[in-house]
Amino acid sequence: MAKQKPVGELSEAAAKRELADLAKRLAEANEAYHVRDDPKIDDAEYDRLKARNAEIEAQFPHLKRDDSPSEQVGAAPAEEFKKVRHALGMLSLANAFSDEDVRKFVEGIRRYLGMDEEEPLKFTAEPKIDGLSVSLRYVGGELVEAATRGDGSVGEDVTANVRKIGDIPEEIKGAPEVLEVRGEVYMHHEDFEALNRRQVEKWEQEQEEKKRQEEKKRQEKGKQQEKGKPQEEKKAKTYANPRNAAAGSLRQLDPNVTAERKLRFFAHGWGELSGSLGRTQTEAMAKLKKMKFPVNAGARPCRNPEEMLEQYARIEQGRAELGYDIDGVVYKVDDLGLQKRLGVRSTTPRWAIAHKLPAELAWTTLTDIEIQVGRTGALTPVARLDPVTVGGVVVKNATLHNEDYIAGRDSEGREIRGGHDIRIGDWVQVLRAGDVIPKVADVDWKKRPKGKKAPKPYAFPKKCPACGSKAVREEDDATRRCTNGIDCPAQQVERLRHFVSRAAFDIEGLGDTQIKLLHADGWIREPADIFDLEKNHGGEEKDSGNGERDLFSVTEANRNLLSNREGWGEKSAKSLFQAIENKRKIPFGKLLFALGMRHVGEQASNLIARTYGNWKDFESEMDAAAAREGPEWERLMDIDGVGDVMAKSLVRTFKRERKSIDRLLKHLSVEDAAQPSADTPIAGKTVVFTGTLEKMTRAEAKARAEAMGAKVAGSVSAKTTLVVAGPGAGSKARKAAELGIEVVDEDGWLEMIGGK
Ligand code: IVH
Repeated sequence: MAKQKPVGELSEAAAKRELADLAKRLAEANEAYHVRDDPKIDDAEYDRLKARNAEIEAQFPHLKRDDSPSEQVGAAPAEEFKKVRHALGMLSLANAFSDEDVRKFVEGIRRYLGMDEEEPLKFTAEPKIDGLSVSLRYVGGELVEAATRGDGSVGEDVTANVRKIGDIPEEIKGAPEVLEVRGEVYMHHEDFEALNRRQVEKWEQEQEEKKRQEEKKRQEKGKQQEKGKPQEEKKAKTYANPRNAAAGSLRQLDPNVTAERKLRFFAHGWGELSGSLGRTQTEAMAKLKKMKFPVNAGARPCRNPEEMLEQYARIEQGRAELGYDIDGVVYKVDDLGLQKRLGVRSTTPRWAIAHKLPAELAWTTLTDIEIQVGRTGALTPVARLDPVTVGGVVVKNATLHNEDYIAGRDSEGREIRGGHDIRIGDWVQVLRAGDVIPKVADVDWKKRPKGKKAPKPYAFPKKCPACGSKAVREEDDATRRCTNGIDCPAQQVERLRHFVSRAAFDIEGLGDTQIKLLHADGWIREPADIFDLEKNHGGEEKDSGNGERDLFSVTEANRNLLSNREGWGEKSAKSLFQAIENKRKIPFGKLLFALGMRHVGEQASNLIARTYGNWKDFESEMDAAAAREGPEWERLMDIDGVGDVMAKSLVRTFKRERKSIDRLLKHLSVEDAAQPSADTPIAGKTVVFTGTLEKMTRAEAKARAEAMGAKVAGSVSAKTTLVVAGPGAGSKARKAAELGIEVVDEDGWLEMIGGK
């Protein structure tokens, strides 16, 4: 970066030019970040530009532009799409990375369904399109609503834009009354390249036009020729890959812009449906095709893992000729009755899996290693690279996992890469697999300079780069962690970022950049501070004494207002306070997840929430479980899905961070966890299965029981309310009888749950 003139030395003309340049660059950065989900500059650079802008505005208040970046927070467009709650959640897919994983997937399904090897079990195999999933809702054969996937439960309303996609019919014939078609919006390579070319042309024309305007203005004013050229945008707004281009083109506020971009669509499934589309996936897809939805011609039926893998090889071979990006092969159980029996886990169906295609590779120079401190204190080495294109995407950063990985060892101390370590300056291989963060996969150590010029082995820091505290590795942990907990500023920021993120509190207008700035100001250190923000930094600006609103001679009280803070205005501050206000009521599971405890993910948080139901009860149980023995500890450990490591992390964090959690709780009203099927005959029961089940497997019985609101336990205790005893049931059934617990056989059980 060229050295900048101190603001005090800028001429008025130069200040004006720089403000124009900054407004443009920041607007573009905002758009890239908020609308295209494709940041073009890193946060530090963004903050630097904003700070420079504020400094110039402070020095030259009369030059402040109408579109000044200091009056804007993020970019609004993404927020301007109406939100749509999906009638049926939009799921994602579990991944298979090897042939072995595919075999295991098939075996697992057979086991779950209790099928032996001779029984036929058909699958379909089809390309996994690397696009953007959408749900199209048809009522009475008419397209009434289209939504993006969003977080799976709530997406964005893109109906007007979807109507501009030629592949998507507005009216369909022969459809059930309600039909939600799900599929992928994507872009062909040639259309992607043409779009980027148009973007460059448009940019060039804009630059020309700008030059003309500047020239005209100068002539009109009869001014002397100003020194230097008019400021130019460095780059046109091009997209990094077809997927981003598809996403950016669909999420346009002006549907006419969407219409100009050649978006395509493939249907691959359905959501809500009144009536039926047939008995099998194959039949259903044929029906959708008849209704004029494009379906992928690469789908094939398969009878066993061998045929699935053959189909995978075929798709992989044809990948380069398709003309659009695919990132895997999706296998689906063909029989829809079996799909229904297999059901879904929390976010993925049991009846389908995505077999990832191999990642794409490239070689480049490792220019530096930076250590990032994560939410739980993990020190993660990030490789800074000479930019390199990997599978159509420019990669500048990649993960190096941990210190062992850099040193050439795996987590068990065994050699990897022939034991060769990775050093700054090395020629390294970068691997990018789909959406996954790129990683440094290999090193060409032979290319390393020898003798005096040889780079030194990388010395992994033993102190936290953010706070200087000791960073230690616990036994069996490959990761070195900062020991300063919530007192480490980097951990605070990461926790706050997690807390406000989409899957957690999802506070509109409080993104990464805002969190960093507010944290740097010391206004927000922990989640509770977010809810005190309005109290501490809200309100109307006080008169500065001379009757004028003067930003730069503000009183202490005015300086303390968010609306006066660089990057904010009254309007944006108000909407943030409102957005925060809206989140005071929060579901139990979301709150637990938002706290960002180590090992406690989204799924586990919801599971725990469902188990305890009520936050207060849960908290007192965690207090009691802190001793790691006794009924409360056992109850925690009894939850299927909570292991020793997670349980320890929960009780430990509750103990250590209780004050901060309680401060937060004062601001919230925590909703009890929804019992999914409160009106089923087994809802709320604790069920134990014993003996042999003949009509369904244990796994299926357990999943069905849980889906209907029951808990499943492994042993009979006073808490058990129902025992299902198949042939061969022994001591458990006897104990149940002794305790006076209801015992039913398999038929009784099937009757309770309404059949198989
Ligand atoms: S089936 C229950 N088939 O991949 C979800 N998904 O990683 C069933 N995708 O969000 C999805 N091509 O949008 C299916 N041929 C295909 C697909 C496909 C792309 C997307 C899908 C999903 C994502 C999961």
